[in-house]
Parts: sequence; C-alpha cells; structure tokens
Amino acid sequence: MTVATPVYETSLSGLLHRGKVRDTYDLGDGLLLMVATDRISAFDIIMPNPIPGKGVILTQMATFWFDLLKSVTPNHVVGVVSDSDAVRNVPRTGALAELPEGYEDRSTVIKRAERIEMECVVRNYLAGTAWAEYQDSGTMNGAALPDGMQESERLPELMFVPSTKAEHGHDQALSRAEGENLVGVELYRTLEAKSIEVFSAAHIHAKGKGMILADTKFEFGFIDGELTLIDEVLTPDSSRFWDVADWKPGTTPPAYDKQYLRDWLLTQDWNREPPAPNLPGNVVAQTQKRYLSAYERLTGKSLTI
Ligand SMILES: Nc1ncnc2c1ncn2[C@@H]1O[C@H](COP(=O)(O)OP(=O)(O)OP(=O)(O)O)[C@@H](O)[C@H]1O
Ligand SMILES: [Mg+2]
Repeated sequence: MTVATPVYETSLSGLLHRGKVRDTYDLGDGLLLMVATDRISAFDIIMPNPIPGKGVILTQMATFWFDLLKSVTPNHVVGVVSDSDAVRNVPRTGALAELPEGYEDRSTVIKRAERIEMECVVRNYLAGTAWAEYQDSGTMNGAALPDGMQESERLPELMFVPSTKAEHGHDQALSRAEGENLVGVELYRTLEAKSIEVFSAAHIHAKGKGMILADTKFEFGFIDGELTLIDEVLTPDSSRFWDVADWKPGTTPPAYDKQYLRDWLLTQDWNREPPAPNLPGNVVAQTQKRYLSAYERLTGKSLTI
C-alpha cells in the first residue's frame, strides 16, 4: 500500500466550519467544498496524529453510498474533485482554486442546504447510548422496549430515534413528541419514513457483504425546496458496522474501525481530556488497515492510498 502524505488540517479561503474530521469551505453560489482530513477522534477527542489516507477512504465510501442510494433519495453531492466530469461546471474560485495537489480525492463539492436541525438516527440493533438508556429505564428515546433484551440484540423493527444537533457536547435523544415539536409533525413523519427507507436499502447491501449495519445517523436538508440527504453517509464515523462473524447478543461486538485505537487508549493513563496521547505507529497502521478493509468489504472495490 502506498501511503499518501497525511492531511491533518487544511487552511484555505472561506472556512465555514471545522469539525472533528472535515473542513468545510464556502465556494459561493450555493456551493461548499468539504475536505475530509486524516484526523481521527476517539471518545469525542481528536487524536494528535493522523491516520494517513483516512479522509480519502471516508470520502470514497460516502460517495459510493450516495450513488447506491440515489434512487431512494436525492443527495447534495455535485462531485468529488477528482471526478473532473462531475465538477467541470464548478467555477475554480476560492478554496477550490487553492486546493493543494493531491487533495482531489478527499474533497467533495456539495450543494449548500437549508439544514434540518435534527439528527436522523435509525437503530436496527440495541447498542451504544441506546443500550445504556435501556439498562437504565427499559426505554429507547423514552419509548418502552420489550423486557429482557440483551446488548446488541436486534430490535423488533427498525426504529427512528432522532437526536438534537448539539453545537457543543453530546447530542440529546428526542422522544417522538419532542422531535415533532422541533421540526413539526408532518416533516417528522417524512423524515422517519425516508430515514427508514434509506437505512433498509443500505442494510440489505451491507448484509450481502457480510457486514451488519447496527445503527446510523443521517442528516437532511432542503435544496431548492427538495428534501435532500446531506453531510456524510454510512461511514464508520456516523455508523456502527459489525462483522457478521463478530455479532453475538449479550456482547459488545468490536467497532469495525476504531476498536484497536480505543483498546489501546484504555491501556494508557489518559483522562479523556485533550491532549490525547501520541499514537504509536502500530496503532496508526492497524487503524488504517481497518478503515481500508471496511471500504473494500462494503464497496467490493480496492483503493490505493
Ligand atoms: N449540504 C450541506 N449544506 C449545509 N450544511 C451541511 C451540508 N452537509 C453537511 N452540512 C453541515 O456541515 C457540518 C459538517 O461538519 P462536520 O460533520 O465536519 O463537523 P461537526 O458535525 O461539527 O462535528 P463532528 O465532527 O462531530 O461531525 C455539519 O454541521 C453538517 O450539518
Ligand atoms: Mg458531523
């Protein structure tokens, strides 16, 4: 595997937002440039060193899914910059004009949306914060679940369990009433139906590749009045993927991508406040390998990074 120069942070004109992983720039004319860096976070803290090529893998994976799901939902993608055909009509101004060579396959031109301020979480299996709530109160987003469920057990049906989009700190799970109150009853129902439809299509695909899509988070917005899937989709950053072979109710199946990193961090004397410890070479290499393998398994394609 060739390893490209890692990209930890970008500094181009028109920075709109710097997330844990992606730097987003305003290109004007209703377009944005989203650059996926090689930053990685664990326990919600950004690690001090990059995973080389991770941003390329994430970009290619999200693009794969957007394309696969385009008959189910419109999306915000104009094109990955390396796809010269797709971006041929985009003016080469601002951040796009300044984009360093070699960044093309980690950078996506997208249409700016009027964002809906709710994270559309869909759960298929009982895991993570949903498992924690269930243990506490027997509920998920405030609604009762059957008694006696185990961790990682499949839910009785796909469940739409949205949360707030917290600018700082953790997103809060919303009950149906709270969600309906936030976006309105009609839009809530539309988002629920759409999210479940998109999830189902993705889940069927993942299953065919020997992977379980346990849960994911979608974001939607309006572009020219049309409800559109935005942000990134179905990467290990927004989704919980398990290997079918690892899944066993009553256990915590390893997170496909970050388990190695998390396990290593737990051996360190670190209080989960920044700065995180420097990652040794083998942790970086193993994590990179997992991301690449998630990409290859889900897409059936190989990637040189
Ligand atoms: N087409 C779009 N139009 C407008 N905003 C968008 C679009 N697609 C994504 N966004 C927004 O851009 C931002 C991307 O930020 P990013 O995901 O990198 O960081 P974050 O959400 O702040 O934090 P985290 O690192 O936890 O994800 C999000 O706020 C997302 O809602
Ligand atoms: Mg985000």
